[in-house]
Amino acid sequence: MRSNRKLEHIEFSLRQKDRQGANGFNDITLIHNSLPELNWQEVDLTCKFLGQTLKAPLLINAMTGGHPQLEEINYHLARAAAVSGVAIAVGSQRAALEDAAARRSFTVVREAYPQGVVLANLGADCTLEEAKEAVAMIRANALQLHLNAPQELAMAEGDRDFRGILENIASLVKQLEVPVVVKEVGFGMSRESVKRLMAAGVSYIDIGGAGGTDFMAIEQSRSGKSMAWNWGIPTATSLLEGLSVGGENLIASGGIEHALDCIKALSLGCCLVGMARPLLRVLVNGSPQQLTSSLAALIDDMRRIMLMLGASDLQQLKKVPVVISGATFHWVNQRGIS
Ligand code: FNR
Repeated sequence: MRSNRKLEHIEFSLRQKDRQGANGFNDITLIHNSLPELNWQEVDLTCKFLGQTLKAPLLINAMTGGHPQLEEINYHLARAAAVSGVAIAVGSQRAALEDAAARRSFTVVREAYPQGVVLANLGADCTLEEAKEAVAMIRANALQLHLNAPQELAMAEGDRDFRGILENIASLVKQLEVPVVVKEVGFGMSRESVKRLMAAGVSYIDIGGAGGTDFMAIEQSRSGKSMAWNWGIPTATSLLEGLSVGGENLIASGGIEHALDCIKALSLGCCLVGMARPLLRVLVNGSPQQLTSSLAALIDDMRRIMLMLGASDLQQLKKVPVVISGATFHWVNQRGIS
């Protein structure tokens, strides 16, 4: 049942229409610099993440695993991450904890990217033993714990009890030997949530905002309902919420489609950008080669935008002037975010 759900997630997510502009980044304008005084070779996108150097601040976000048919997808996602020098997270390893036969679709990721930054993934209600097993299974550099209450509530077979999650996260942070990353799955986080996670000692927070893959709509479609609520905090807005409470180790994801979105998010102040479905789409509807070349093109475009802004590295990028307009402007004003 769980492994069929994983196949359906791929199918239904790829069927979902893009929600143009819903991630909020159309409200963010980076101010063009006519005198960048930079050479292309000087533009440096490298960053440190979990003790390693990435060629670009990108994460292929958690998607899949748990069914033999998913082994190939995970292998090619991991190869693309390896060739591009970026980080990758596997999908929820719950299925592999319950059935050893499902492990192969996850371990293939570490085999394809032996020295890379690879993140394990489980729901934030997992036990310490489960967390340790998921990390050991793929020699993960960190554990991603996902928060997805709206998705669970939209699933007939989903969880209904969300008590004790924060305490569980705090206890996992204390007892695990690897850093913990907490992520939303496309509903975003408010500054209040970010604050509570920071207080729990979480190393990185992926605000996982709204505007891209909509898991509430996916679960509703799986159960034959077509209603779409567009629930959640748009990614750009959620990032500003998190930054306002001093979140330095924030990852921006959710509806990030292209290099301009990536650079806007990095310029606002996140340390890494995550992408899931847009990369899956290139792989499934295209080919492994197309995935690798579209990541190369994405990184190339990011450098081009940095040059146009006169930013030679990611620190400089954070100093670039930004104008916030539209609904995001009203949001930050009403919430008192400066
Ligand atoms: C996901 N996502 C996800 N997240 C997670 O923490 N564990 C998981 O098992 C999955 N599974 C999954 C399957 C598929 C097919 C997709 C497309 C996505 C959520 C993902 O990591 C991300 O948070 C959201 O998809 C929003 O990002 P995008 O897709 O808008 O870039």
